[in-house]
Amino acid sequence: MGSAAASPPPSGKMSQDELKRVAAHRAVEFVEPGMTLGLGTGSTAAHALDRLGDLLRAGALPGVAGVPTSLKTELHAARVGIPLLQLDGARIRLSIDGADEVDPDLNLVKGRGGSLLREKMIEGAGERFVVIVDESKLVPRLGCTGAVPVEVVPFGAPHTLGLIRKVFDGLPGFHARLRTVADGDLVSAPFVTDNGNYIVEMFFEDGIRGDLQDISDRLLRITGVVEHGMFLGMATTVIVANNDGTVSVLH
Ligand code: 5RP
Repeated sequence: MGSAAASPPPSGKMSQDELKRVAAHRAVEFVEPGMTLGLGTGSTAAHALDRLGDLLRAGALPGVAGVPTSLKTELHAARVGIPLLQLDGARIRLSIDGADEVDPDLNLVKGRGGSLLREKMIEGAGERFVVIVDESKLVPRLGCTGAVPVEVVPFGAPHTLGLIRKVFDGLPGFHARLRTVADGDLVSAPFVTDNGNYIVEMFFEDGIRGDLQDISDRLLRITGVVEHGMFLGMATTVIVANNDGTVSVLH
C-alpha cells in the first residue's frame, strides 16, 4: 500500500460527517468533463453527489453523468441534477463510494447500507474505483467493526443461512443472522434490498483470519448466495480524512 503526502490540517476538530465531506470533495477533484461515473451509496457518497451537483449546476463539469448504485442514490442524484445512465456496457471511467471497513491491503467491507450487489457490479465494471472514508473505517482485518453482509435470495433463506454458517464452522465467536427491520410495533421483517433479496449478516469476534479469496469463493459457491460485501482487490485509491484534519491518499 502506498501513501501520498497529507494535506495541512484545518483548524479545529471536525465531526465524523465533516471528515466524510472532506474525503468526498477530494475524490470529486478526480472527475473530468465528459466522464461517466459510478455513483456510490451512503452518507459519505452523498457528500460526493452534492458536490457533483454543485459543479454541474455551475457548468464546471459538462457531459458528466452517473450510474447509481441504489434507488436512494438514484433519487439523490436526480434531485441535485446529475444526469443518470443505466449499467449497459457504457464505459465507466471512475466510481466514487464509501466503505464500512478498509484493511491494510485496501480490501473493503461494503454493504452495511444494503446496496452491495449494485455497488459491486458498477464499481467492478469501472476503470477506477476511488473509496472515500474517514479514519474510523481503517481496520487491521475485515470484519473487525461489525457485520459482513451477504445478499441471498429470499427463497429458502434460512437454509442458505445454515450453509453460510457451515463455511465458518467451529470458528470461535462467529455468528450469522438474517438482517431484519422493525415493521410496526414489536414485529420485525426481513430487510429487503433494491433487488428484492435478503441480507445475511456475518459477525466475527476479531475480524476474518484466513484466506479472504478462498472464503469469498466458498460463499459464492453456495446456491442461494447472490453476492457478499467483501470487495477484494477492487479499490484503486482510498482517500482517508484523518481525525487530525489531514487527508491521506492510499494506492
Ligand atoms: C452502502 C455502503 C456504504 O458505502 C457503506 O455502508 C459506508 O456508508 P457511510 O458512508 O454511510 O459510512 O456500502 O451499501
